[in-house]
Amino acid sequence: MSKKRIAILGAGPSGLAQLRAFEAARLAGVKDLPEIVCYEKQNAIGGMWNYSWRTGLDRNGEPVHGSMYRYLWSNGPKECLEFADYSFDEHFGEPIPSYPPREVLKDYIMGRIDKQDIQKYIRFECPVRWVAFDDDTQKFTVTVMNHKTDEQEVEEFDYVVVATGHFSTPNMPYFEGLEAFPGRILHAHDFRDALEFKNEDILLIGSSYSAEDIGTQCYKYGTKSVTISYRSQPLGYEWPEGIKEVPLVTHFEGDVAHFADGTSQSFDAIIMCTGYLFHFPFLPDELRLQTHNCLYPANLYKGIFWQPNPKLIYLGMQDQYFTFNMFDAQAWYARDVIMGEMALPDLATREADEQKWLETYAKCVTVDDSIDFQAAYIRDLTDATDYPEFAVEKQGDILKQWQKDKAENIMTFREKAYRSTLTGTLAPELPEPWLDVLDDSLEHFLNLAFVQPKKHKKAS
Ligand SMILES: Cc1cc2nc3c(=O)[nH]c(=O)nc-3n(C[C@H](O)[C@H](O)[C@H](O)COP(=O)(O)OP(=O)(O)OC[C@H]3O[C@@H](n4cnc5c(N)ncnc54)[C@H](O)[C@@H]3O)c2cc1C
Ligand SMILES: NC(=O)c1ccc[n+]([C@@H]2O[C@H](COP(=O)([O-])OP(=O)(O)OC[C@H]3O[C@@H](n4cnc5c(N)ncnc54)[C@H](OP(=O)(O)O)[C@@H]3O)[C@@H](O)[C@H]2O)c1
Repeated sequence: MSKKRIAILGAGPSGLAQLRAFEAARLAGVKDLPEIVCYEKQNAIGGMWNYSWRTGLDRNGEPVHGSMYRYLWSNGPKECLEFADYSFDEHFGEPIPSYPPREVLKDYIMGRIDKQDIQKYIRFECPVRWVAFDDDTQKFTVTVMNHKTDEQEVEEFDYVVVATGHFSTPNMPYFEGLEAFPGRILHAHDFRDALEFKNEDILLIGSSYSAEDIGTQCYKYGTKSVTISYRSQPLGYEWPEGIKEVPLVTHFEGDVAHFADGTSQSFDAIIMCTGYLFHFPFLPDELRLQTHNCLYPANLYKGIFWQPNPKLIYLGMQDQYFTFNMFDAQAWYARDVIMGEMALPDLATREADEQKWLETYAKCVTVDDSIDFQAAYIRDLTDATDYPEFAVEKQGDILKQWQKDKAENIMTFREKAYRSTLTGTLAPELPEPWLDVLDDSLEHFLNLAFVQPKKHKKAS
């Protein structure tokens, strides 16, 4: 019998988790692994963590994937995203603070991958153009544009793993008068450098993670004032002078924004922090996940397998309290199903299981409920595979404390330190206030007083 063939779409943390899951099986002595091809649109691995200065289109004319910006620091404690099979201690050689900047986290992601030599499976600069499933042959046909050869490639696969992320295609609302606004109007996806807005009055629309992070970051780098306009509810933090929250914009007149409470103000620039669309232009309707950003998208068994065709696998499509370790939990589960180690139940049973999770999710009221829900979801997955134990419930407790820390002081929560549930190591505190650390480079961060740089082995 010929080998099973698997296509993994995307080499961000989710796609890399799937590659790593198969690699772990190989290292454990499993023979007869499937043949894997991973198609990646960019020219490097890392997905969102692969920072790009580009906005708009990349050098191949493809939409730029990256939504990350300079000076971005992790917005959650690293102890809650630690790979269970590769600790921060193992990578950095000694403890580092709980909230690392982007380059430091990227280095950690790369460290696990470089060790395993799994890049050989990845075809770079190969955006997937179309995926079709043939009911007769029970195979997928995947069409990609190979920008390196300038030719389209078409190959057949038994399974397709969609790991293309869902924080890349902007949700860009319209407000009356925007077309006459004289300054910059951009989405958070295209935000790169806070210094662009130094000494400016900026308006952020939206009241979630992008708004709070871009707002505090612009404050940190010298923006004159930050106004956050909310639709449903304000973020509600105690802001320093220079940041404030107002109700939703009703319309613009020139550079003046009018708000629902009757107030108005002029601005130099507008940043839409209005979230992202799930966008799969390479999937036909019958295979395409249609959802908003939530903890349990419908039509996925175990949050992974497409209903009714479980040979189509989605990774990382949930809203994310947990990230890297959740992607791993999903990837290990998917691997075992693909390898025939675990049999999937029939469709009716799968739908009933999905329904049960959706009903539990509907009962979540508070943020703590949501954290517990996602932890229980991950526990359900890891209990079924050999993914190493990582005390996900304890990590949930850290996330609950993280919420409290943010509520206590949104400008200083990144100075808190947590204990790894894997190694028991207590992170050192950030030795300087986060607001004062303007250089976010890996070198600078690791030269802060808490670590000995000589012991750090850089991955890339
Ligand atoms: C601004 C921002 C900040 C964030 N900060 C944090 C944080 O601090 N901590 C945290 O844990 N998480 C954070 N996240 C969440 C982040 O999305 C996850 O950490 C993680 O990157 C998700 O991994 P992924 O592989 O599912 O998706 P992505 O990282 O988005 O990777 C998807 C990959 O698929 C590729 N791809 C897309 N379309 C195609 C195609 N058609 N063909 C081939 N390849 C394709 C892309 O090029 C990309 O490499 C942040 C997200 C954003 C937007
Ligand atoms: N430093 C970091 O680590 C960092 C920084 C930024 C982002 N992120 C990550 O990026 C991901 C995405 O976060 P996000 O904040 O971009 O998206 P998000 O969490 O989906 O939030 C979208 C926001 O946009 C608002 N919105 C949507 N449509 C709107 C409209 N028409 N008018 C007004 N407001 C509208 C929503 O308001 P409602 O509440 O009314 O729906 C919500 O407040 C998260 O996982 C986050 O962790 C991380």
